Amino acid sequence: MQTVIDVLSEIFSKAFANAGYDAGLGRVVVSARPDLCQFQCNGAMSAAKQYRKAPLMIANDVIAALPENDVVETVSVVAPGFVNITVKDEFICRYLEEMRAAPDCGFAKAENPQTIIIDYGGPNVAKPLHVGHLRSAVIGECLKRLNRFAGHKVIADAHLGDWGLQMGLIIHELSLRQPDLPYFDENYQGEYPTEPPFGLKDLEEIYPYASGKSKEDEAYLEAARRATKEMQDGRRGYRALLRHIIGVSLPDLKRNYARLDVDFDLWLGESDADPYIPAMVKMMQDKGFAYKSEGALVVDVKEESDTAPIPPCIILKSDGSAIYETTDLATLVQREQDFHPDRVMYVVDKRQGLHFERVFRCARKTGVVRPETELSFIGFGTVNGKDGKPFKTRSGGTMKLSELLDTVESKVAIKGEEEMDAAELKELKQIIGLAAIKYGDLMNPCESNYIFDIDKFASFEGNTGPYILYTMVRIKSILAKLKERHPDISAALSAAGHGAQQFSPAFSVSSERELALSLTRFSHAVSEAQKKDAPSLICSYIYEISNKFNIFYHDKKILAEENKDTLRALVALITLTLNVLDICINILGFRAPDKM
Ligand code: ARG
Repeated sequence: MQTVIDVLSEIFSKAFANAGYDAGLGRVVVSARPDLCQFQCNGAMSAAKQYRKAPLMIANDVIAALPENDVVETVSVVAPGFVNITVKDEFICRYLEEMRAAPDCGFAKAENPQTIIIDYGGPNVAKPLHVGHLRSAVIGECLKRLNRFAGHKVIADAHLGDWGLQMGLIIHELSLRQPDLPYFDENYQGEYPTEPPFGLKDLEEIYPYASGKSKEDEAYLEAARRATKEMQDGRRGYRALLRHIIGVSLPDLKRNYARLDVDFDLWLGESDADPYIPAMVKMMQDKGFAYKSEGALVVDVKEESDTAPIPPCIILKSDGSAIYETTDLATLVQREQDFHPDRVMYVVDKRQGLHFERVFRCARKTGVVRPETELSFIGFGTVNGKDGKPFKTRSGGTMKLSELLDTVESKVAIKGEEEMDAAELKELKQIIGLAAIKYGDLMNPCESNYIFDIDKFASFEGNTGPYILYTMVRIKSILAKLKERHPDISAALSAAGHGAQQFSPAFSVSSERELALSLTRFSHAVSEAQKKDAPSLICSYIYEISNKFNIFYHDKKILAEENKDTLRALVALITLTLNVLDICINILGFRAPDKM
């Protein structure tokens, strides 16, 4: 369906053209003063410069030249040249009727679907997921669902960190602890055991230990670097250990992501890009882009317009080993071969912005990606504690993601908890807890830091996930009661299907019109969020819908209504409200319970 903004913009563009002005000036926006009007057009202001005429005169010309239509109820000109607009109630109802009948509440899918790869999650194998991984998972998952909803082909890739120094650290520490394992015997020719020589708990202990030790002991660090390089060069025993480390780590990562309702199509890692490195390096050398600098192989990526120095992109370190830049570039080679994407999005901590800037420039300059491939860095801010510093556990340690989820779930308070079945209660707390976390995150612009305030996020009041769920559960319960009392109406509504008009333009209270008008903005809100990679726009939209619904619910005694036509219209309105909310929270990555 065309958005209401587009419907109005078409009418006002015609009016500008009829009055002899550029049609492009007729763009309509949602009113900045909802107390005065529903929509506005500010084109006369821009026209003033172009036509050297007072904006007020232009605005008057335009409204005099408004084409015939059955949409606009009132137009007025306000100094210095704003055009204020309200639309007809009949139009609102026709529009809602169409939304009700159309799939996905009338959202128009992309005409030219793109292939989009989203690189998010980015967990490092052998290290537990912690609060620093939360935002990538939550934002990435939402952008995946949002772009899929918009009609694009989206491929989600977890891009495991499994090729760097952390692997060498684990391998080296293991070689000290269990030197007799066959993996360390260079003359060993046989098959390696299929069972790993360590479990998850061991790995979770080994990595922090080895990492701490490498910071104090230069020789230890050097040995870990050597092990990393040997693993990368293909030493058999080390590759076998790498497979074990991934094999032990991956199921745990999958379990954690499942708790977050986050899922990937590909669980590829940096190590999967390794086979693409040699040809990529050769290509960069053959084309004359890569050259030796202080032993390392680099590509210059600075540009004239840079205001700050941008160091060259390092392709290989002086010992010939691959680093973060190398695997990211080789992964792009792989993605280009496998999927030929139109766009690759990276949802990563904004502090990695410079890394991606260099990788993107290098990829373009050397032809790793086609010139038209869009590379986007969606950099996000930090999750802070109430003290404004990065979120920590009470004892000052990094908080594991699983611990964080447990804590939030334990904070969710539910009325009548005592009488509930234990399993049911647990599931309910999980659903609400997840909504609290995800909404608390996504309501902020991605690039901002935010304060992780569990009590606030888990509250049923205010701008929170549980408040949205509470509103939806309220609607579900009203609908269930109405169905019981008036079986004929719900039957008629579901059977009426697409033909019969259900919405009534006779709004009985102004809050009903307010709610209806906000519902018409659904497609616009979702499409803006998609275009701007901004989940927060969906959050503010559903907060507005929820508020408007609750005001309306307060004003109108829905359950006491007896008139059948009014009832039918009310059921249609609140069902649509529920559907719109449901689509939106699905995009955000959580769901609503039936009661709470
Ligand atoms: N594993 C990385 C980290 O923990 C994040 C990976 C992000 N994605 C990428 N393609 N570099 O910092």
